[in-house]
Amino acid sequence: MGMDDKKLPFCESNKCSCLVFVFVVAGIAAVVCVTFLVDDVRDIYDHDGKAAGTPWWKTTIIYQIYPRSFQDSNGDGVGDLQGIISRLSYFNYLNVGAIWLSPFFTSPMKDFGYDVSNYTEVDPLFGNMNDFDNLMKEAKSKGIKVIIDFVPNHTSNESIWFKHSRNAKDSSDPFWDFYIWNKGTMINGTRAPPNNWESVFEGSAWEWDNVRGAYYYHAFLASQPDLNYRNKRVLEKMDEVVRFWMDKGVDGLRIDAIPHLFEIANQSLDEPKGATNGFDENLHKYLKNQPEIYSVVKRWRAILDTYEAKDDNSRFLLAETVGIPHEARLKYYEAGSVPFFFNLIPAEDKCNATAQCFKTLIKDGVNLTEGLWPNFVIGNHDNRRIADRIGQEYVDAMNMMLLTLPGTPTTYYGEELGMRGGDYSRMTPRDPYAITSHDPTKSRDSERNPMQWDTSLFSGFTNSSQGPWLPITINTEYMKVNVEIEKNKTGSSLDLYRTLAVLRQNEAFKSTNIDFPKMNVMNVLIYIRGSGTNRYLVALNLGEENDGINIAGAAKNATLTFSTKPRQGSLDLSNIQLKIGEGIIVHLVE
Ligand code: NOJ
Repeated sequence: MGMDDKKLPFCESNKCSCLVFVFVVAGIAAVVCVTFLVDDVRDIYDHDGKAAGTPWWKTTIIYQIYPRSFQDSNGDGVGDLQGIISRLSYFNYLNVGAIWLSPFFTSPMKDFGYDVSNYTEVDPLFGNMNDFDNLMKEAKSKGIKVIIDFVPNHTSNESIWFKHSRNAKDSSDPFWDFYIWNKGTMINGTRAPPNNWESVFEGSAWEWDNVRGAYYYHAFLASQPDLNYRNKRVLEKMDEVVRFWMDKGVDGLRIDAIPHLFEIANQSLDEPKGATNGFDENLHKYLKNQPEIYSVVKRWRAILDTYEAKDDNSRFLLAETVGIPHEARLKYYEAGSVPFFFNLIPAEDKCNATAQCFKTLIKDGVNLTEGLWPNFVIGNHDNRRIADRIGQEYVDAMNMMLLTLPGTPTTYYGEELGMRGGDYSRMTPRDPYAITSHDPTKSRDSERNPMQWDTSLFSGFTNSSQGPWLPITINTEYMKVNVEIEKNKTGSSLDLYRTLAVLRQNEAFKSTNIDFPKMNVMNVLIYIRGSGTNRYLVALNLGEENDGINIAGAAKNATLTFSTKPRQGSLDLSNIQLKIGEGIIVHLVE
């Protein structure tokens, strides 16, 4: 007996049956319509494909691995894919469900892999394709999603494409316009670049090439020529790259340097004076954030969607969007990606990391049209570690902030331990940015220091007799700050991180809502997550002195759920004292 048969006794006349029939048909039509509409909306914002329920990237932490520095398996002092495989269970232990791998593709390593010479090969330094396939298999068996770096803006000058292009004789050659070439100008009989455009890594963005007899444009190093995205062949080649990795089963891509994908077509235009800081969002108006970018992102999204449609596994598209205005951020969402919200990283430069300032930055981070999914990030391979940037005493509070804010958090390897960066001040920098800018303070070596696993020689990172590619330095206190020691220490940064990673699975932290109660506290950042009876108040002392808060107005009763430091006695809601760098989570009971 069907459902309709059951209903009939309540409606026996013919007229009534007819009406029921009309309602049923209308109902089915409405459901179909809404499903399509919702799918449409979802396609724009969630990219959930056909996958039912919440996509995995909305419920997990993403952990960034810089492969050179995570785990060496073959004793050459450089981390590799086998090394990562050997550490996969660490992510289960950490309660982290996704890893993002910085580049491991064939590269002359001038920018440590962000100069790719072959997009579909593994650099021998990191292993081989077999290792990658094993990594995927092992990660899958442990329930860990794998996101890989995708570096579409530029290749290495050792790429076969660039070799073809510089040797191309005329436009009949398919590689003729693969890169951005310009003959330049003559100034008083001397050859000069076509305009004043500068590279992010400083100096002219144009490099003369004797073989081709022209300048080529490079947003980054001279050995990283920019691809020409106005060339349909480039687009097609990159589609193949995306498909290659999707076929390998990766769960998402992090698109490198996407705001640089296009430059203004008119190369006779000079940039405004002072446009020398590559990461400043107000400068480089001809070199960054050009409107053509979004259709390319959409194109890659569409490829990912075809894979989602096949297996119901949502594919995540993260965009590295340093220095973009708010409107551009929304356009990346519209195009089907989630643009990294980086504003918490330079917080200490902007406003000395006061609570009020963080509040403004966070509000900015969640200032999104309904349906858009926020994300926060507080460190990566291009910025000093939290302990060095903000201060060791704030690491736990910062991790706590990251893991209790709405949206997807990204943690840079080692930050869960409160690792300091290496002190390489007396060493010649390895980072090309420090070299090309002739400014060692710009070096990114410090934050790329080897992961500290244990108390053995070289912290368990390598068994090379030469030591790791970047030394493990004394300032990091590696004998105390490492996985082995922190695993066994209640209240260590690692211990707190793991607990928070579980806590954030509570519904209150899964939603996107966040409230900032009106309280005039200088040093303590306070916000409330969740709704109804499931509300948690997060308080973080990010200031430079101990401070007290009165949250009696927020709830009649409250219980302490979590604290970064041991606390004694019961909570007096009208006077909760928080030490510098202390954070608490309080369950509010009406
Ligand atoms: C952004 C990457 O994060 C950075 O490390 C790299 O140097 C540039 N892109 C150039 O690829």
